[in-house]
Amino acid sequence: MNEGEVVGLVGESGCGKSTLGRVGCGLYAPSDGAVRYRGQPVETADGARRPIQMIFQDPFASLNPRMRVGEIVGEAPRVHGLVASGEVEDYVARLLQRVGLDAGFVRRYPHQFSGGQRARVGIARALAVKPELLICDEAVAALDVSIQAQVLNLFLDLRDEFGLTYLFISHDLGVVRHLSNRVVVMYLGRVVEIAATEELFAAPNHPYTQALLAEVPRIDRRRRTFVPIKGEIRRRSHRPPAATSIRAARMRCRAAHPRRLCCAKSRRAASLPAT
Ligand SMILES: Nc1ncnc2c1ncn2[C@@H]1O[C@H](COP(=O)(O)OP(=O)(O)O)[C@@H](O)[C@H]1O
Ligand SMILES: [Mg+2]
Repeated sequence: MNEGEVVGLVGESGCGKSTLGRVGCGLYAPSDGAVRYRGQPVETADGARRPIQMIFQDPFASLNPRMRVGEIVGEAPRVHGLVASGEVEDYVARLLQRVGLDAGFVRRYPHQFSGGQRARVGIARALAVKPELLICDEAVAALDVSIQAQVLNLFLDLRDEFGLTYLFISHDLGVVRHLSNRVVVMYLGRVVEIAATEELFAAPNHPYTQALLAEVPRIDRRRRTFVPIKGEIRRRSHRPPAATSIRAARMRCRAAHPRRLCCAKSRRAASLPAT
């Protein structure tokens, strides 16, 4: 990921988006390979302060119900010594205001908030440790559409204000298109395509991306034909049958391992020839 960009990570449910996000911020250890942040392994990046923070789908499940919001947001910066203990209260109040909450809410518990407000508390908690990269895992999926838009706009405002970089995980292609500079498409635990957002939506390369974009629900289309991806998926643990629906690509796939991502200008898609 490049500094300051918003990368959207899409793919169907169960393809491994959350796992990738959790590996990325050091919550899970990778079974293979390495995760580096500014050249450093993620576990040790920048010592005590974690520059990578995660925002979860369900803020109700990820906020401790027995803690008041003041503690939830203020705990990490206090423990990591980012703010002096006498100043934590002011610090939390400022953060709450920044994410659009009343500073007087510090004494409330998570259940005393609406869904949108809880999402904002989750964002304030992540911002409290002055992160550089936010990994948002379906961060707005649980919210009403009108509240979603507000929270998405908050994300964009915060990016400008704090110079944040985002990995935005979502199954909602509309949200990803609206927010992202680049899109990464996952399929059965593998990245199959990476491209600039407009290029990807204009001309998807990989058959799975094509199928994903074709299935976006549209209000103006009543009668739709469903085109399944052709080919057999063997075992889930087996490597995905990349490019099964394009005969020519399939021939090339035999020669190249699907893990190899090949470049076409700024684009990469699995299993295309390295010519
Ligand atoms: N690269 C991978 N290889 C094998 N299994 C994986 C891989 N990535 C994720 N999984 C497994 O797939 C399941 C769903 O993953 P998850 O990350 O929750 O998907 P998503 O967030 O896209 O719905 C989990 O049980 C996870 O352990
Ligand atoms: Mg998930």
